[in-house]
Amino acid sequence: MSSPSESLLSVVPVLPVVVVDRVEDAVPLARALVAGGLPAIELTLRTPVALDAIRAVADEVPEILVGAGTITSPGQAKQALDAGARFLVSPGSTPTLLGAMADTGLPFLPGTSTVSEVLAVLEAGFTEMKFFPAEAAGGATYLSSVASPVPAARFCPTGGITAASAPTYLALPNVGCVGGSWLTPKDAVAAQDWARVESLAREAAALR
Ligand code: 3PG
Repeated sequence: MSSPSESLLSVVPVLPVVVVDRVEDAVPLARALVAGGLPAIELTLRTPVALDAIRAVADEVPEILVGAGTITSPGQAKQALDAGARFLVSPGSTPTLLGAMADTGLPFLPGTSTVSEVLAVLEAGFTEMKFFPAEAAGGATYLSSVASPVPAARFCPTGGITAASAPTYLALPNVGCVGGSWLTPKDAVAAQDWARVESLAREAAALR
């Protein structure tokens, strides 16, 4: 699919946040998400194979928008770009990390969980961000409270969100999409049960 020229938050209602342990799982998993109607994937840099998984999906599943998540150091932003990532996500924001992600030229979602962090990201010139860890940091009630004083900020909340709680977030004026790992349960991925992933993706795609 094409790059998200207008908004990273408008591509899919639910952004699958994925931890891949075996690089060979990445391509069939990405294809299952596309088949279920979710043409975007955040592959987290939490395993040694993550960059290779991004490279494989970028090469073999061009119809999915592949991004790199869990960017926690400036060097990872460039590594993700080189692997073929088309967007970046970080769990938190520091000035150095913001600068490194911006330097890649890719769209990105810097992580925030406090109003001061949200204001700092806005001051740096970015209006779209991740809210993490969403449930632990106050959930939909918290984001709803931020909408009135800080209307410019738009969020992709992630962390502890489920199929049951996603609609409450998606109904908020400052939420464009939610992220979560519930679409790729560990047991389903271990069993290479791509039909289950496709089915969970289909349910999530209908949440918009
Ligand atoms: C993330 O990095 O966004 C979270 O780990 C996803 O959270 P979840 O596993 O609770 O959905």
